[in-house]
Order: sequence, then C-alpha cells, then structure tokens
Amino acid sequence: MRLRRPSPDDAAEVWRLVRDSRALDLNSPYAYLLLCSHFRATCLLAEDRGRVEGAVLGYAPPEDPTAFFVWQIAVADRARGRGIARQLLVGALAAATPSPRWLEATVTPDNTASLALFRSVARALGARFQCGPHFPAELFPDSHAEEHRIRIGPLATTAVDELADQLELTLATHPGSSDAANHRPATSNETGGTAMTGDRP
Ligand SMILES: CC(C)(COP(=O)(O)OP(=O)(O)OC[C@H]1O[C@@H](n2cnc3c(N)ncnc32)[C@H](O)[C@@H]1OP(=O)(O)O)[C@@H](O)C(=O)NCCC(=O)NCCS
Repeated sequence: MRLRRPSPDDAAEVWRLVRDSRALDLNSPYAYLLLCSHFRATCLLAEDRGRVEGAVLGYAPPEDPTAFFVWQIAVADRARGRGIARQLLVGALAAATPSPRWLEATVTPDNTASLALFRSVARALGARFQCGPHFPAELFPDSHAEEHRIRIGPLATTAVDELADQLELTLATHPGSSDAANHRPATSNETGGTAMTGDRP
C-alpha cells in the first residue's frame, strides 16, 4: 500500500469511490477534477496494487491556514477496518506545510464510523477532540441533515511525526517533483510500511 498525491486522471476514480461509499455527498465529477488538480497538494490517495482503496480530500481553509480541513474521506468497502483512513489522515497532516495546528472536518451526527475515526486519531495524537453543531439543516436546500464540526488539536508536530513513524508512513520527497516542497523530511520505513510519494511513478 502506498499513499500518493492524486492527479487529474484520478478524478473519475475518486468520484466512483465517493459514490460507492453511500455515506458521503456525491459532488460533480468536475469538483473532483478541481480537487485532483488545484488541491492535489493537500489530498492523498491510498493505492494498493494499482487500485485506489481510499482518499482524503482536504485543504487549509483560507481564513484559518493553521487548520487542515477534511472535506471528504472515504475507503472502499473491501478495504475498511485495516487502518487505511487513519493512515490517510496522519499522512495528510505529516505532509502538510506548514504543519497544521488543527484537524477539522464536518460530519453528520449519525456517522458513527467517521466519529470513531476522528476520535481515534485524536486519541493517538494526544490531542483534544471537540464536536458540536456547525451547519444547521436549514442551510441546505435539500433534505440534508445538519453537520457538526469536529476540531482536533492543538496538534504537536512531534506527535504527528511520531505517529507517522509508528504507522511506517514513508514521507519521501521526489527530487525535482513540484510536490517536494510540500513534504517534510523522510521518516524511517525500513520494515515495508506504507510508502508515500508525490507523484505516480
Ligand atoms: C469512515 C471510514 C473512512 C473509515 O475507514 P477505515 O479505513 O475502515 O478506518 P480505519 O480502519 O482507519 O479505522 C480508524 C478508527 O476508526 C474506527 N472505525 C472505523 N470504522 C468504524 C465503524 N464502522 N464503527 C466503529 N468504529 C469504526 C476503527 O475502529 C479505528 O479506531 P481504533 O484504531 O481506535 O480501533 C470508512 O468507513 C468510510 O469510507 N465510510 C464512508 C465514508 C464516510 O463516512 N466518511 C467520513 C465522513 S467525513
């Protein structure tokens, strides 16, 4: 398994991953194209034997660049329960420059898997987990449920790096890659953990 940045030719696969999750709002294919191009430096895919098994789509909110906001995270049914979502979140935090102080997301209150995921990552990072009402249902023109905001932090860079090490995520930079500036120095991955690369080979 490896973590890598998406590129525009991944957008259709990411759209299918979100569609098949049956839990996330499915946005237009064009929205995923934008994420896989303009926002590719803050998104990550988990890929196993050429198949995309998971994705985290995020960005630093323009009004609070100290945060990393997870817009959507999904893991394919067949690959759930193997720690892939946790790797995606920790990988995204570890690769972000500057290091985020906060991990944020919004979630519908009935999404127990998502809440468990974020609580578990907060615990592993030794950071505070807060969750409360954010976007009320009235703001949505359809029958969408309200969204609660999750805020985890403040995050210690050392805690993120240590967890990335523990999960054996290799934060490798690709010399000459346009992504190089978005990675912190490589951590150890001598035991066959999850490699993290900037681009397709
Ligand atoms: C939520 C989701 C991304 C989790 O992916 P995953 O790869 O199976 O999660 P992980 O294996 O990394 O699990 C991380 C933690 O979450 C917990 N968790 C994951 N799914 C869970 C579930 N269905 N019920 C309870 N806990 C769950 C795990 O037990 C683990 O906690 P632990 O380390 O304390 O044991 C996946 O279920 C999914 O794609 N769901 C549909 C899309 C979605 O709801 N996305 C989130 C909205 S922002």
